[in-house]
Amino acid sequence: MAVMRAAARGWLHVLRSRSCGGGRVGLQERWQSAASAVQTKDPKPQSQPDKRKPKTGILMLNMGGPETLEDVHDFLLRLFLDKDLMTLPAQSKLAPFIAKRRTPKIQQQYSKIGGGSPIKMWTVKQGEGMVKLLDELSPRTAPHKYYIGFRYVHPLTEEAIEEMEQDGIERAVAFTQYPQYSCSTTGSSLNAIYRYYHMKGKQPGMKWSTIDRWPTHPLLVQCFVDHIQKELSMFPVEKRGDVVILFSAHSLPMSVVNRGDPYPQEVGATVQKVMEKLGNSNPYRLVWQSKVGPMAWLGPQTNEAIKGLCQMGKRNILLVPIVFTTDHIETLYELDIEYAQVLANECGVENIRRAESLNGNPLFSKALADLVYSHITSNEICSKQLTLRCPLCVNPVCGETKSFFARQQL
Ligand code: FES
Repeated sequence: MAVMRAAARGWLHVLRSRSCGGGRVGLQERWQSAASAVQTKDPKPQSQPDKRKPKTGILMLNMGGPETLEDVHDFLLRLFLDKDLMTLPAQSKLAPFIAKRRTPKIQQQYSKIGGGSPIKMWTVKQGEGMVKLLDELSPRTAPHKYYIGFRYVHPLTEEAIEEMEQDGIERAVAFTQYPQYSCSTTGSSLNAIYRYYHMKGKQPGMKWSTIDRWPTHPLLVQCFVDHIQKELSMFPVEKRGDVVILFSAHSLPMSVVNRGDPYPQEVGATVQKVMEKLGNSNPYRLVWQSKVGPMAWLGPQTNEAIKGLCQMGKRNILLVPIVFTTDHIETLYELDIEYAQVLANECGVENIRRAESLNGNPLFSKALADLVYSHITSNEICSKQLTLRCPLCVNPVCGETKSFFARQQL
């Protein structure tokens, strides 16, 4: 019990930090937009308008987020049970305990951003835009159909694969929606694909390949640049050149970093390309948010960086979420409310804003379509990087997953 209590306290802290916040100006519209998005009855991603039998299926992989307050418990339960994301002592018993205990607090946070996560709503919009463009770009592999495969909420990855098999898809692309690869996120989703077939004891009826990372895709970089420039233009003219750009990425435990996870390097690569494209117009730093628990995590933490900058008199700050492609609790709550509202008031920030997430930007759907098109025409199963396990990996499933993809014949 003592271990469980201690772990629960640690995770309480982690999850409390998980909420994000944004800028002081223009946030109201963002919350309203998120709220109406969550209230909207989303179309089922599988019920897409083109009735022709799909040939190419694109499985959009992400962790997902609870769409309603009632979904919060099961979301947390699946998250704490995911051994590819974290390992806990007596995980099968501890996970339900922590999930139950954390649910009310997390529900409170979601209630402040409109009652649920907008991830699915934005993924549907992005998927629709992507397949429409793909049908024009690549008639040979059309019709294209997107499927959503979340790790912790419906539609779950396993449900999506089931549906792809039933649809008779010939060519399946596992497309991570995390531009930068981590074994905790994309790795976990790819392991779920391997496990699906392993548990069923059958071979896939379709040919699989994967887009496992895309941290420096030119259109992704352009989207970030456009959103940053738009937000910079909202600062008073005389302050604009002094604004510090804080690229904020979800942090990772140092235990994950130190086993050789490529995520920190790939996030840095995105930031570098974005700043080059911006002509290095402003000073900037890459900082890390959402640390949880008492263990060491990659830093500096975003909130600590904001405090430190204010103490140095750098009181004009632009927050840029650089690793997620849609809004979620880490942008709408942690960045927008916890940091840009509450913390900024405490620190005496002069102006703080948050660059909009990529969400419904049509250029972003074009980026997704271009990535899939280039991937399909390349005839590659995966990136070279995916073939290498972390030097200190101890998870045998990672090796099985890599073999699974290596066995695919296009
Ligand atoms: Fe990175 Fe297993 S933890 S390959």
